[in-house]
Amino acid sequence: MKECKKLITERRAITFFDSAKEISDDLIKEILETASLAPSAYNLQPWKVIVVKSKEKKKILKEIAFNQQKVEDAPAVFVIIANPKAALENIDRVLDSSIELGYMKQERKEASKERILSVWKDEEQAKRKAIRDSALFAMNIMIAARVYGLETHPMDGFDEGKLKEFLNIDEDMYIPMIIAIGYKDPGKELLPRAYRFKFDEFGEII
Ligand SMILES: Cc1cc2nc3c(=O)[nH]c(=O)nc-3n(C[C@H](O)[C@H](O)[C@H](O)COP(=O)(O)O)c2cc1C
Repeated sequence: MKECKKLITERRAITFFDSAKEISDDLIKEILETASLAPSAYNLQPWKVIVVKSKEKKKILKEIAFNQQKVEDAPAVFVIIANPKAALENIDRVLDSSIELGYMKQERKEASKERILSVWKDEEQAKRKAIRDSALFAMNIMIAARVYGLETHPMDGFDEGKLKEFLNIDEDMYIPMIIAIGYKDPGKELLPRAYRFKFDEFGEII
């Protein structure tokens, strides 16, 4: 419990990455699979991720991200993709596993499938659901990274159209954010944590 609070408290959007320190593919996969334990409506997991490690590609990505230097300095950048077609693409695998695990009876599959697909047919709903659940996945990435002593920086400062073109991402997808990941440059200091509103300013108990 205390460890979890520490991970949340110590997470910062890190501006200075140590460009000399790499992250292994195995560690990246471990972080992403841990993060994929994030909840999603009907467990549809409407996210995809492209991990950019290549130095040449990071250079181009930096330009697309309005020249934010951390994009080039971080050893990897995760491009988080929200998939509004997730229901269509994932529904059978998700429902079949629910049946196998005893969540649902086989005879209820078709009715459930129809109900879920009818909601996701609405473009606005599909967009909202895909982006919402992908953001939960993204947050989990930032927390999971801390478990391994890694730092992150989420960004939405980039040209989405250019990024899709660069990485051959389908026009229909959304990119809610990219996340730079790596180790902090030990020679640089961050400013103190930016102000956070107190409970009374953002919440109420009724
Ligand atoms: C979705 C999202 C997009 C962001 N985009 C940028 C960005 O493009 N450039 C940047 O410098 N910081 C960006 N930030 C970082 C925020 O400015 C930062 O999280 C906030 O100031 C609080 O600082 P902290 O995360 O260190 O507590 C973004 C954060 C989020 C969640």
